[in-house]
Amino acid sequence: MSSVGKPVPHDSARGHVTGESLYVDDMPLARNELLVDFLWSPVAHGRIRSLDTTAACSVPGVVALYTYHDLAHNLFGPILKDELLLAEDVVTFIGQPIVVIAAESREALLAAKAAIKIDIERLEPVFTIDEAKRRKQFIGPTRRIARGDVAAAFAAAQNILEGTWINGGADHFYLEGQAAIAYPGEFDSLTLLSSTQNPSEVQEVVAHLLGLQENQVVVTTKRMGGAFGGKECQATHPAAIAALVAHKTKRPARIVYNKDDDMRVTGGRHPFQNDYKVAFTNDGMITALKVDLFSDGGAFADLSPAIMARAMCHVDNAYFIPNIEIAGSICRTNHPPNTAFRGFGGPQGVATIENILEEIAVHLKRDPLEIRTKNCYGIDDRNVTPYGEVVRNNWLPRLFTECVDRADYRRRRIAVAEFNARSKTHLRGLACTAVKFGISFNTKFLNQANALVNVYLDGSVQVSTGATEMGQGVNTKIRQLVADEFGIDIGMVSVMITSTEKNNNTSATAASSAADMNGSAAVDACRKIKARLAEVDAGRKLPWRKLLREAYEKRVSLGDRGFYATQGIEWDAERGVGNPFLYYTQGCAVSEVEIDRFTGMMRILRSDVLMDIGKPLNPGIDRGQMSGGFIQGAGWLTNEEMRYTPVGELLTHSPTTYKIPNIQDVPEVFNLDYIENEANTVNIRASKAVGEPPLLLSISVFCAVKNALSYLSNGAIPKLRAPATGEEILMRLTEIKKKARFAPSPMAVGR
Ligand code: HPA
Ligand code: MOS
Repeated sequence: MSSVGKPVPHDSARGHVTGESLYVDDMPLARNELLVDFLWSPVAHGRIRSLDTTAACSVPGVVALYTYHDLAHNLFGPILKDELLLAEDVVTFIGQPIVVIAAESREALLAAKAAIKIDIERLEPVFTIDEAKRRKQFIGPTRRIARGDVAAAFAAAQNILEGTWINGGADHFYLEGQAAIAYPGEFDSLTLLSSTQNPSEVQEVVAHLLGLQENQVVVTTKRMGGAFGGKECQATHPAAIAALVAHKTKRPARIVYNKDDDMRVTGGRHPFQNDYKVAFTNDGMITALKVDLFSDGGAFADLSPAIMARAMCHVDNAYFIPNIEIAGSICRTNHPPNTAFRGFGGPQGVATIENILEEIAVHLKRDPLEIRTKNCYGIDDRNVTPYGEVVRNNWLPRLFTECVDRADYRRRRIAVAEFNARSKTHLRGLACTAVKFGISFNTKFLNQANALVNVYLDGSVQVSTGATEMGQGVNTKIRQLVADEFGIDIGMVSVMITSTEKNNNTSATAASSAADMNGSAAVDACRKIKARLAEVDAGRKLPWRKLLREAYEKRVSLGDRGFYATQGIEWDAERGVGNPFLYYTQGCAVSEVEIDRFTGMMRILRSDVLMDIGKPLNPGIDRGQMSGGFIQGAGWLTNEEMRYTPVGELLTHSPTTYKIPNIQDVPEVFNLDYIENEANTVNIRASKAVGEPPLLLSISVFCAVKNALSYLSNGAIPKLRAPATGEEILMRLTEIKKKARFAPSPMAVGR
């Protein structure tokens, strides 16, 4: 009767298609409900000289306007408490909320916004990492991870390359905008519906900002229409704004960001600019690496320090680097605070080293695959990361071999070289990259979860955890685990709405670990109930319902709470050492691209993705994560570009100007598979987390573009920034053409 390991359909598969699935803004208007919006700063950096809301107050239908004066506290933040909910005298990014408006209608909201008189003196803004570095404008301290003797290795180096990895930001582009409804209760209590990955954080922040106790605030989350990290911290702002209105007016209050506003006012993936210097032998073995990572944190810290820590812990990726120095600094700029985004800094770290490996190959005129496998972590040796964690059960060598075989890499490498020698109009490139993604929050205390399991007398079961469903299928996985524990059909198990009333002090649904941790907590609760039922049964093997009835009549509890805390993890952020991760999810991908030499337009001809995801809890859902993650990453690296005006206004705030991948951007041939691995016994049912890791395999697409350019660059290392949009590719092609006059170099790659 086991359902774990089977491709059980997603809980909401039918509801998402029929429209039956409920989202925050599907809730019918409550009696007396107010619509909420806010006036935000139109200026990236400035001082508020004056603010006059009297005209706005008298707009018909306007009920209230609030500023920071109306909050009990204004300061909060997930790591550093540096964030203001509502601007005080200074504004630090375009989109920063200043005045909260509550009204009876959208028309009144708009009219009130237009009637607010605000005078802001412009101060000099900072929009780039370079400018922030010049001004030494950083968030938190520079962190370091180091091992070996980098100076000696550089002194003895056979080859040294230097360069800078540059990647842009990205919008999460969840389909459902940030949303919350706050319902006032008696004695100042509040109940919130919030589209958040982190109901406990919303509860904590709302209570704090309004001066309530946490037990006066209940936050529930049914599901999100996508989140991708964008609702890990930044769902808090709309929730707190709606809560302020409900608290003050004692009327229900709703806020839903429209897409354009959402894209403008919320942060996204961190742009990075990483300076590197690498030493390697004539054979392509890396002997030393020095990387200075710089991220654009935006105006407030948000999760930037944890994101930088994950970036630093992923610069090694699949490769053993004996001597290494990694430094990470977060630049404070006047962009909206950048935040968690699927991969959480990991992609920016991994792209840096994968790009370096591509460059080493060009420099040595070797196949990049050879350089990668040569430097790959070993199984019994060369298997310690720069921060001291041992890569246990290392499947990377096998993944490289199998992925390359399945993708027919070697034959296609020759075919690509031949194509490029022949074609005057198109250019092809091929690349194989890997991922080794550390699973666990890199903040130790976040690695805990609790669960509530209620068994009813008809044999059905309700389970509640802190996990939130954002489409990724965590509810389905938890159902499968609970059904298996009790040996009942999955149809007998319901996963209930996430609520802080049932599960307290929970962590965000994040770090790819929600099914791992909440599933483990649910199983813990089931086992407690099962132990009591076994006593009642006393070896008689009673049918499920009969046993429940007998236990109930004997007054044995049929419900329990479970708890889980990930064991054996440690992280010393100051020294940059520890075992931050319970295990690694690994994978490999081969991608081939074709570029139009006259327009720069790029297509992905084929991608082969092979992953080690342990024994998957649900292979169907996991395949969905693999394809979705890969394509989302390819969007970040090749399609999606954030453009601003010189004064920092985002130009690309809608799908007409911001290009997320669509069906035509999916590789024409797209093979996804995983290898069976039963060795990951440290995690629930020997499974592995799969939410974020496949996103990093899209780096193979970027590397394939770079590889294509190397066929024209006459031995020089092609420069390429992410996103490698058609425009970026065309500019690089034009540069190369100026130097080389179209002559393809047969020596560029391979033999
Ligand atoms: N992932 C997501 N969220 C986090 C993490 C992480 O590793 N660490 C702290 N918050
Ligand atoms: Mo995530 S980026 O761990 O929400």
